[in-house]
Formats: sequence, C-alpha cells, structure tokens
Amino acid sequence: MVEQQRASIPPPVSLLAELTHRCPLQCPYCSNPLELERGGRELDTATWRRVLDEATALGVLQTHFSGGEPTARRDLVDLVRHAAGLGQYSNLITSGVLLDQAKLDALVEAGLDHLQLSIQDSRAGNADRIGGHRNGHAKKMALAALVRAAGLPLTINAVVHRQNLDHLPEIIDLAVELGAQRLEVAHVQYHGWALLNRAALMPTREQAEAAIELVRAARERLKGVLAIDYVVPDYYARYPKPCMGGWGRQNLNVTPSGKVLPCHAAETITSLSFDSVTERPLAEIWYHSAAFNAFRGTDWMPEPCRSCERRTVDFGGCRCQAFALAGRAEVTDPACSLSPLHGVLVETARAAAAGPSPAFVYRRFGATTGTATPELADAPS
Ligand code: SF4
Ligand code: FES
Repeated sequence: MVEQQRASIPPPVSLLAELTHRCPLQCPYCSNPLELERGGRELDTATWRRVLDEATALGVLQTHFSGGEPTARRDLVDLVRHAAGLGQYSNLITSGVLLDQAKLDALVEAGLDHLQLSIQDSRAGNADRIGGHRNGHAKKMALAALVRAAGLPLTINAVVHRQNLDHLPEIIDLAVELGAQRLEVAHVQYHGWALLNRAALMPTREQAEAAIELVRAARERLKGVLAIDYVVPDYYARYPKPCMGGWGRQNLNVTPSGKVLPCHAAETITSLSFDSVTERPLAEIWYHSAAFNAFRGTDWMPEPCRSCERRTVDFGGCRCQAFALAGRAEVTDPACSLSPLHGVLVETARAAAAGPSPAFVYRRFGATTGTATPELADAPS
C-alpha cells in the first residue's frame, strides 16, 4: 500500500529552503506568514545540512536558498557548499542589500550556481519607499554589477502593483542594463501581508491589461537578450494559474523552524497543520503527511473543478487564495471565472483599485498578529 502510494506520487524537483524570516526590507506584499518566526527558533546548521541530504535522497535537483533574507544567516556559504557537494543546482533568492564583494566571492567559490535579485521599482526613491529600506535600491544596483562581473547568471525579480506598474517599461530596460538573463515580472499574490495591503497594491484592470501587452511586445523585441517570465494578475484573469505547478507535485518548502510546506504561503491555511523535519524524515512527510496529501491529484476537487477539462492544467488554482478569500482551501479558487465567488472577487478588485491608496502595513516582526478574515466566506457558493 505504502509502495503503491509512492509509485503514484512523483518526487519533488525543487526545495525552497527558507533559512530565516529576518530581513532588512519590509515589503508590504511579502509571502512570509504574518506570524514571522524569530531568529531563536531557526534550525541550526547541522539540521539544514541533514535537510539537504534528505532532499537529495528524495530526488530534489535544485535548492533555492531564500527567506526572509538568506544572507542574514552566517552559515549560508557552508550550506551552499554542502548543496554543491550533493550535486544540487543552487539559487540564492536575495534582496541583495547585505552582500558585498567578499561575501559574493565566498558564495561563488562555494559553488553557487545562480542569483535572483529582487527590485521594488526602477526608480530609487519609490523602490526604497516600497521596500522600507533606505538606499536599498543603490545597493542592489551595485550588487548586480558584481554578480555579472563574477560571471554568475542573474535573474531580476520585480513584484508589480499599482504603485510601480506604470514604470514597467523602465523596469524591463533596467534588467537589460544590469545584464540579467531573465526578468520575472510578478503581479502580487493576495494572501498574508499582501492581503492586508490589497487596497494599496491592487492595479486597475486597464493597468493590468496594458502590462500584458507590454510584456508580450518586450518578449518579442528582446528575444535572445532577456527572457521574461510573467505571473498574471489573478483577480483579472479568466482562469487561475497552476499555482506551485499543483499542490505537492513538484516543490517543497522548509520554513526557518523546520516546518515542511507544499507552498511558501501554505501556513496561511490555518485549517492545515504541518510536519517538521525535526520530527519526521523529509521523504515520509512528502509521501505521507496529511497536508501534502490534502490537495494532491483531483479527487479532492469540488464542482466546478471536478468536471472541468482544465482540472489537470491549473489544478483548481491556488489553495492559499481559496482559503484567504473563502475561508475554505478546498473550494475552487475564486480567481477562476467559473467559481461562484468570482463576481464578488472582481468587484472587490475594482473597488480596491478605484479607491485611494492607504498607507502600507510594512512587513515587520510584531506589526500585526493573527490572520486576515476571509471576506468571501459568507458569499453564496
Ligand atoms: Fe481550473 Fe477549476 Fe476553474 Fe476549471 S473550474 S478552470 S479546473 S479552477
Ligand atoms: Fe499557496 Fe498558491 S500560494 S497554493
């Protein structure tokens, strides 16, 4: 029975190792949970090494070192070296503001394969305001030059929203100037911190549609120069994206204290509980934990997903978004136009984008507690 179950579940491809929730930036759309884990609860170096060993044995090929800000961990070079020794392709997802030449050299020497640098805007003043970190943009620009000089492949990640979307042409030009091979233009995903800040972040439908056309044209113009990935604005889409490539299908995420999640935002689903690498082996969690098996495959799906021909294309959309909006992770993602909640969602987006933009609730330890109330929970479904 156990072997049968294993045979039907492919191994994960990538591990998101969230080494810490500590971070010098305070982005109001952060995907970390509202209840951030303090430094004292972080896994130690030996446990992270064991996690990397177990992940490799399980079949993981790529490790993304992330956070918070992973360079806030003193043992990052050691962990990158350990991953390289295991044959992992390693990627550092960083805000860049804590890295200098010496630290970058040490990471390259340890075997780092790729660096993904987040930017908040193309314009320094607005970027620093959004990230809540003075001079952050200038430090990022300096780091990008060092990364390219070191010969390390560079991806720029830009989360876009109503307060920077009109600068998208400049953001694309900046990625080319910085010598990036890839640019990720990602619309905000509204759960956790981003849901708290939705009115300050939601673009209008016109802004979102203009961005789609702009990215299409830029892809054409920059073929062979810059690859552009685009994460669609869910609230204005007809169908949701296949979030995480499907729950428990390709990725696993280990939090700073060792909880193992099917998605970086899964802790926002408070109806689930998550096993820890401090209590169970990673393979056992991947194949047998209740949280990973909750939304695998298609058997869990309600209508309209159950009889929809797209159910193995988008897997019913995003579980975190379903929970954030409807209070139930098992319903069709309200971003889907076939969801009975979709009309309310579209109206919510329209109203948010049309209203004034309130001040950000910055992502900080202790800035807020608990979870946002699922606002569509009482809507008919
Ligand atoms: Fe995807 Fe479900 Fe919508 Fe069909 S009904 S498009 S499977 S979310
Ligand atoms: Fe968690 Fe979509 S963000 S499943």
